[in-house]
Amino acid sequence: MFIASAHPEANISRVFAALGEGERSARDAARKQADIAPDGKSRRFLLAQARQEAFHAWVCDGAVHWLAPDSAGASALPAAVKRALRRYAERIGTDLAEREFTRSLVGMQVVFEGLGAVVLGKLDIGLSKHGKRFAPLRRILLRQEDAHHEFGVRSLQRLIASDAERAGLGAACAGYCDLSDAVLRACSELFGDFDAEIAEYIEQARTGLPAFLAPPRVILT
Ligand SMILES: [Fe+2]
Ligand SMILES: [Fe+2]
Repeated sequence: MFIASAHPEANISRVFAALGEGERSARDAARKQADIAPDGKSRRFLLAQARQEAFHAWVCDGAVHWLAPDSAGASALPAAVKRALRRYAERIGTDLAEREFTRSLVGMQVVFEGLGAVVLGKLDIGLSKHGKRFAPLRRILLRQEDAHHEFGVRSLQRLIASDAERAGLGAACAGYCDLSDAVLRACSELFGDFDAEIAEYIEQARTGLPAFLAPPRVILT
């Protein structure tokens, strides 16, 4: 367990700064996913998602401002956090540049949304004197993130055409999980002031993955 901070406002603001960076990545990715979506309905959903992610980034920026008005926001994040988030965004960017729509769904809507939901859900906003202000906003964000995750899972179930494709996406999912774990580990310093441990975050993020992307179980004979 970590020791509670004497400066919860400043520490919670740094987690919001990291979340805001993630929201901007999600916004950019959803816009690009809309360009390569296989049908109009998916394209419309993704454009709506991009607008919601922009709203989430605005909420996070606002939270940073309320909590720590003098903070430099995302630019003050530790280099390791920025690097881990950048690596994740680069991986998504590669899949999008290769027009790998289903792979981008795994990376963004399935793994990255799961990561964001775990962090947002664990954030102990009760530590902040602004907690009451955040509670309804957090509920909205969690509901919208859940809808994005659900869209990703349902789209994959519809679009995966073969076992070979499913296995390939399972491997991509494992790669994205490694990058997601790296983000959480890099954020350990930020989370240190909350009653949580990184292993628990990682475990919870994995629990939310759909079974059809999980690595095949080894059957011992
Ligand atoms: Fe979001
Ligand atoms: Fe989202």
